[in-house]
Amino acid sequence: MHSEKLEKARAYEKREAARVPEFQRPAFHMSVPIGWMNDPNGFSFYKGDYHLFFQYNPYGTHWDTMHWGHVRSKDLVTWEYLPAALAPDEPYDEAGVFSGTAMEADGKHILMYTGVTEHMGPDGKKVIRQNQCIAVGDGENYVKLSANPVITGDMLPAGCSREDFRDPKIWMENGVFYAAAANRAEDGSGQIALFTSGDGEKWSFHSMLDKCENRLGRMWECPDFFPLDGRQVLLLSPQDMMAQGLEFHGGNNAAFLLGDYDRETCRFSGETVQSADYGLDFYAPQTLEAPDGRRILIGWMKSWDADLLLDGFRWNGMMTFPRELTLREGRIFQNPVEEIWKYYGKEIVYRHVELQGQREFEGISGRTLDLTVEAEAGSYEAFRIFVAKNERFETVISYDPGTSVLTFDRTGCGVRRDCACLRRIAVRKQEGRLKLRILLDKYSAEIFVNDGESVLTSLVPTPLEADRIVFETEGKAEVSMTCHEVRKSESR
Ligand code: FRU
Repeated sequence: MHSEKLEKARAYEKREAARVPEFQRPAFHMSVPIGWMNDPNGFSFYKGDYHLFFQYNPYGTHWDTMHWGHVRSKDLVTWEYLPAALAPDEPYDEAGVFSGTAMEADGKHILMYTGVTEHMGPDGKKVIRQNQCIAVGDGENYVKLSANPVITGDMLPAGCSREDFRDPKIWMENGVFYAAAANRAEDGSGQIALFTSGDGEKWSFHSMLDKCENRLGRMWECPDFFPLDGRQVLLLSPQDMMAQGLEFHGGNNAAFLLGDYDRETCRFSGETVQSADYGLDFYAPQTLEAPDGRRILIGWMKSWDADLLLDGFRWNGMMTFPRELTLREGRIFQNPVEEIWKYYGKEIVYRHVELQGQREFEGISGRTLDLTVEAEAGSYEAFRIFVAKNERFETVISYDPGTSVLTFDRTGCGVRRDCACLRRIAVRKQEGRLKLRILLDKYSAEIFVNDGESVLTSLVPTPLEADRIVFETEGKAEVSMTCHEVRKSESR
């Protein structure tokens, strides 16, 4: 038996998602069935399938009444829409079923999320409370525990906020359940509270895994915590960051803290901070460990500060293409998961072409493709790639080998809002050598720089008829490129 609220959401999404014209949908990215989507939630592998849940308001293209939507995939590329998993239908989560994570235990799929409540205080001010809850299911239907909320703000040490306490990451080690949730400390900035449990129902506070102390933005959201090639990563989405140089221009950003974890004492010591993405639309990523051991990340492809919804669209939300994380010389590299190969259509290759001035290449055009461009070390002063281009629109990716700065500029892409359109990023200097892998999927561009040393993810709301790709150099450059058309996934 499901609640009326969940039944209503399921009936609504089934009816209305089918009315979204197929041409609006990205070809190889997951998009919300109908309405609004923000953070990825519960990204996990369960009984032979990848599962992805998401913050979801089926009823409108704006944030409201958070549910958990649900999709499933065999290969991280083709996502099948499943009925919404959770609705805000209990007294302890009636103001929203907020973000969280998932794991498998005893053959069951365990979801841990934040239940939000709101009521009027005696002074007439709104009182918000955020607590952590569990729902257990079979991969399609989930039942909330009668013991919910299993972790409450009262378990936190004195001075910790009860209002900003959310987005639990759940995992198990040596028979013990752990949960790490974001919290606001007395100094107004974020911290990550660690809880433990023997049975998954009775939890107690263990320690603070890390504290922001106003060094990395303010409140931290959506923590993920995982080992990577012998080190440990605390992945965070810090709010209200102040930009430093070319770093952290997104306001709300996502960052990897790379360090070590002492499992005896549960102490994490972060050593380096790395931006998870330099683009204009990226937030709240989370990861899973695939059965073959790969660590895979997916993020929400949108900024909280800009809304580039297209005219007439009844859906507003896409996820990034899933990326594999690897550690190389102390830096986290990100690359599209290899499963994309299965979706390749025609391949066009050009090797060692001399470029001077502007040029287009036969076969290299379109809005759903995986394009790798390599410029050799040479005597050029500027190198530009224009994508999603026609007489009226263009988005420009340009590289200055002198400063080794890469610029993404969607000023001309047809935005109808006053929003950030330009991002500059420092790239490893290699005497002019540069490798860019660009995934275009209709209304988005993801740029993987130098085999994944950094990534820029942005929405490109340009009409689809703008499909030219133009190369331009100042000076002479030798360029090679490989372009694969990426074909639409078959089932949803
Ligand atoms: C991050 C976030 C989370 C919260 C969710 C609510 O984007 O603010 O902290 O759980 O969105 O939808």
